[in-house]
Amino acid sequence: MSKRKNLRKVLVIHGPNLNMLGKREPAIYGKTTLNDINKKLENLGKKLGIAVDTFQSNHEGEIVEKIQDAMGKCQGLIINPAAYTHTSIAIRDALLLLDIPIIEIHLSNIYKRESFRHKSMIADIAEAQISGFGTLGYNMALEAISTMI
Ligand code: DQA
Repeated sequence: MSKRKNLRKVLVIHGPNLNMLGKREPAIYGKTTLNDINKKLENLGKKLGIAVDTFQSNHEGEIVEKIQDAMGKCQGLIINPAAYTHTSIAIRDALLLLDIPIIEIHLSNIYKRESFRHKSMIADIAEAQISGFGTLGYNMALEAISTMI
């Protein structure tokens, strides 16, 4: 594996209420905790030669700042903006600062749920969207992004 490949860095951002995974509506989101998801991503990252940085916030501005901070530091971004998916022009605008592949991910299938969840503010600026595969979706996203960067 080349040195450059070793240096690939992917940022994974989890939006509001995802810190409550495991306790939060388990029938929809499952019983796996965010810590478990992050650990699995870090382990998969090691196999793929990717350094995975994970971040969760319940605050829109903090997510915007984390995205700004990723400029020039990451080769790929995986983001589950949670409820901000459907509302946040600020997160969309921050993502537009980045010239790297972005994968949007949702645990649940947002199109099978309430109509207000059918609209994503970032779907048209993401490389791809993964929705409805539960926690497996995160691994799929990391595998996919590793082929893009
Ligand atoms: C979610 C779907 C959103 O509609 C919701 O607000 C979330 C989680 C998902 O992962 O399925 O918080 O992004």
